[in-house]
Amino acid sequence: MLTTSLKILNEHYQTLNNEGQDVIQGLTRTPKSLPPKYFYDDRGSELFEQICELPEYYPTRTEASILRQYADEIAQITGVCELVELGSGSSTKTLFLLDAYERLASYCRYIPIDVSRGIVQSSVLKLQQKYPAFFIEGLIGTYEQALAKLESTFASSRMIFFLGSSLGNFNPQECNIFLRKIAKTLQPGDYFLLGIDLQKPKEILEPAYNDSQGVTAAFNLNMLSHLNWRFQGNFDLHLFTHQAIYNQADAQIEMYLHCQKSHQVSLEALGLEVFFADGESILTEISRKFDLANMQKQLEAHGLKTLKIWTDPKQWFGLILCQA
Ligand code: AVJ
Repeated sequence: MLTTSLKILNEHYQTLNNEGQDVIQGLTRTPKSLPPKYFYDDRGSELFEQICELPEYYPTRTEASILRQYADEIAQITGVCELVELGSGSSTKTLFLLDAYERLASYCRYIPIDVSRGIVQSSVLKLQQKYPAFFIEGLIGTYEQALAKLESTFASSRMIFFLGSSLGNFNPQECNIFLRKIAKTLQPGDYFLLGIDLQKPKEILEPAYNDSQGVTAAFNLNMLSHLNWRFQGNFDLHLFTHQAIYNQADAQIEMYLHCQKSHQVSLEALGLEVFFADGESILTEISRKFDLANMQKQLEAHGLKTLKIWTDPKQWFGLILCQA
């Protein structure tokens, strides 16, 4: 009999207090924006899994190839430790790491954390079957909730990992705040493994976010369906189209939902009425493209010393292992 261990960090606590404040803020500001975490309801996480399989979307398979090649080396450097994954999704790429730690020690603790309950539930169940000797506990919540919880839990040695270039969703200021929180959560000697997408020509970047099958468009529009059910909204998905452009000056992909016709939208649970003008856009995501040397400096500034950097032959994606 298998029992899955799941802890939900975001029930009670936010729902009554301030859940959705970020939606209100984003939609009442000019230009309008929405936090990318609202992509990931269960449907959104499924669509993201499909994005990872697209021929144009190179980041997942590039990072996976680096992990496949170097997971044993990572495990040898860190030794046995508690593995904590922020934004774990389906944990597919993580299998390379878990296999490496299994070869190293046969026992391991793995804590996947994600905002989408369905995907954590199903991946914990699968992983517990694949690694019966491991202690696996899924946490459902935001990064903030997860880091707060980790700060209050002891592990003699820990590696937090943040893969897939999810860091790219943060603007420079948010990125700083996030790295500060990571550094504060880690004990001296603990590890941080970071996967980042690197700068490359627009001709490769833009198709990765404008795929020919329209999966990324569906993923972007799904955020509105998520807001509709979560906050009793009446967004009409037919009135918006997907847009993704590479902003070269800021080295970031910007994804928008572009409004096709002026109209009013309400989100009842938030007591919010918003006017959209014809041609107005909502910024739903930035996906920054990084430079390894700069990132190394930034990590250093937060007291995170780089131990080793791995990349792929085309230098499209980077993996940085650092130590607090
Ligand atoms: C999960 C944030 C890394 O920015 O590439 C994929 C999300 N958005 N296609 C990314 C995403 C559109 C992805 N991250």
